Amino acid sequence: MNVLILGQGGREHALAYVVSKSKLINSLFVAKGNPGIKEYATIIDIDPLDFKAIMEFSLQEEIHLIIPGSEVYLENGIADYFLGSNISVFGPTKKSAQIETSKAFAKEIMKKYDIPTAEYQIFDNYNEAIKYLDKKEIPIVIKYDGLAAGKGVVVATTKDEAVNALKIMLEDKKYGNGSVIIEEFLEGEEFSLMAFVHDEIVIPMPIAQDHKRLLDNDLGPNTGGMGVYSPVPIISKESVDYAVLNVMKKAAKGLVKEKYNFTGFLYGGLIQTIDGPKVIEFNARFGDPEAEVILPKLKTDFLEIINNLLHSTVKEIVWDNDYYLGVVLASKGYPNKYSINHKISGINKTDSPLFHMGTKMIDKELFTNGGRVLLVTGKGKTIEEAKENAYINVKNIECENLIYRTDIGAKSVKK
Ligand code: AMP
Ligand code: GLY
Repeated sequence: MNVLILGQGGREHALAYVVSKSKLINSLFVAKGNPGIKEYATIIDIDPLDFKAIMEFSLQEEIHLIIPGSEVYLENGIADYFLGSNISVFGPTKKSAQIETSKAFAKEIMKKYDIPTAEYQIFDNYNEAIKYLDKKEIPIVIKYDGLAAGKGVVVATTKDEAVNALKIMLEDKKYGNGSVIIEEFLEGEEFSLMAFVHDEIVIPMPIAQDHKRLLDNDLGPNTGGMGVYSPVPIISKESVDYAVLNVMKKAAKGLVKEKYNFTGFLYGGLIQTIDGPKVIEFNARFGDPEAEVILPKLKTDFLEIINNLLHSTVKEIVWDNDYYLGVVLASKGYPNKYSINHKISGINKTDSPLFHMGTKMIDKELFTNGGRVLLVTGKGKTIEEAKENAYINVKNIECENLIYRTDIGAKSVKK
């Protein structure tokens, strides 16, 4: 098969890593890729959002399958653009991707198909939202339904904070004309459950736990993710089985019933509450950095899985039993202002996969080129061993401008 992956971060690097190992692969291309991906694929300089150019390239290179990394491509309709062509896109159409891109749509599906989630109400009017808020307890969660440059979710710990968020979103309309969801605050451990989905077929993956805050002990600002591990021993098998059945399978089935059939990676962001797992969000693509620790665990041929799914064939998937733990090395200053172009050395000394998130190569030397720069993994028979190995690998990397958390996986490590 000839395959084209769209994107350029750590997730796309991990996808290229597993696709390149498939016995079905003939040619693998990535647009626009990164220096780490060069090891496995041909990098092409086409903007993945230029669908016309992607189509021309795909016809010329006889591409069979396109795997979009980011939701941006789905939201802009990459799957719709290729409908009716001979090229498959492993990702949902724009309409089905609303499970991620519209919080109101996702909530309606969850309500209609009895998928456990936080209690909520949707508002367009500021005064009505305030009236509802007055009846509710704090903490409470305020979510803008639309793109808000990562500022659309406010977990308010005081009434003033909640009122202020509503004012910004509904009165000042700072992010646009979207509505707002006021949602019950859920308490518990967060985990990510992903599945390969095609219509009603749902093949779950091992779960992972992301670390969204910048600093140790979950302090500091929210980021795109500073570390991750898989599987997650603090979440029981019963909880995962429950979530596969009551969240992932119900969602896939519900989407089919609504004629919003979903093909691609479905991501459930869950919280383990005392009443069982509940959904905080769905995503319509692979999680990042989750992909970087889940995909290395895959023993079954990745393209065979996708191929079988696209033909509605179900076969058992095998994952190895090891733990993988990933530590993100980020530029000093991230998620705010940071500088780039700092030289990186030592990446070849690590003994388990290392994924590039924001790097560039100049004259065979590697430099930082983004907020999150590298994800370094460690593997082990236990989470403790994976953690130890990941940090040994981190120590091999030399760069004057990189920072990292020292407590990835700490909650799962026995004291
Ligand atoms: P974001 O990744 O910006 O969508 O932020 C979502 C984060 O807000 C999640 O990772 C949770 O930590 C938190 N969050 C969202 N909804 C809830 C909720 N209902 N209860 C508790 N925390 C939530
Ligand atoms: N790790 C969170 C996400 O991919 O959305």
